[in-house]
Amino acid sequence: MSAPAFLTLDQVHKTYTLKTMFGPTKQVKALQDISFSLQKGQALALVGESGSGKSTCGRAVAGMFQIDSGKICVEGKPIATAHTSKEKRETARKVQMVFQDPFASLNPTHTVRHHLERPLKLHKRVPADSTLEDELHRTLTDVELDPAATLEKYPHELSGGQRQRINLARALAVGAELIIADEPTSMLDVSIRRSILNLMKRLKDERGITFLYITHDLATAHYLTENTAVMFGGRIVEYGPSDQIVRDPQHAYSKLLLSSVPSAKTKIDANFEHAKDFSNFADEVRKATAASTAPLASIGEGRMMRS
Ligand SMILES: Nc1ncnc2c1ncn2[C@@H]1O[C@H](COP(=O)(O)OP(=O)(O)O)[C@@H](O)[C@H]1O
Ligand SMILES: [Mg+2]
Repeated sequence: MSAPAFLTLDQVHKTYTLKTMFGPTKQVKALQDISFSLQKGQALALVGESGSGKSTCGRAVAGMFQIDSGKICVEGKPIATAHTSKEKRETARKVQMVFQDPFASLNPTHTVRHHLERPLKLHKRVPADSTLEDELHRTLTDVELDPAATLEKYPHELSGGQRQRINLARALAVGAELIIADEPTSMLDVSIRRSILNLMKRLKDERGITFLYITHDLATAHYLTENTAVMFGGRIVEYGPSDQIVRDPQHAYSKLLLSSVPSAKTKIDANFEHAKDFSNFADEVRKATAASTAPLASIGEGRMMRS
């Protein structure tokens, strides 16, 4: 029998109701019947185009709002109904989120030291045989930053990549066991994206940190993650081992996500007709995917798909 999962989602639903100024209210089904589990020390990629429900799923796991129905458990305990406040704090501590914009989540008036000292103190993360200063240094070294050169700096004095390292450091300082990384590299220079991905991989392999990695880039998800869930319209349309999904995607929408990556270059080279054909084809795939209400069904060892 396999070990109990660190994180489980069971038939999670979330619908947003939008009140438009004049017309009728509009319902957006942001999460529909989302179920998956994630083992401690492993990583799962949530992949899909903008609007597919990835961030809503991440924020639901972080307990940032109440889901409509279903269950989200961390170490077997439902996150929303942890009884005592101490229990709630424990769950909240274990699950931390890192956002797309590394600047937005840092306070511009505070130094790196302040950003890391607070969680270390608040969550009593300094062991008896260590000092606050030692823990600050250790946390920065963990995210491959030079403590002496970084501690007294303000966010604006750091590069985007360094700021994202601070956000990861802060999650570690709190004592995160699961980090939800919502497109953590998409606002960074292409040249440093890989180094942040490498860092997360190291934190997973060497520190046993569990990752929910949100990205629109199906092609690179397998670098960090064991499994991938491809999302469209609030649903998981395909799920399986990340390397298999990249090598041999089964759902038309997964194939579309993969084909749109190299096509960025072909699109520039190709004539307009080709681009138009591709765009028509993409729309047809999206329409067909949206229309299907088929359940997620097994299509082989560890793999699932909606037909
Ligand atoms: N706070 C919100 N209020 C209303 N609609 C929302 C809200 N957040 C997201 N949505 C809608 O839910 C859907 C999924 O959004 P989101 O989870 O942000 O997708 P993704 O992260 O994949 O781009 C989209 O249609 C989006 O417009
Ligand atoms: Mg998003």
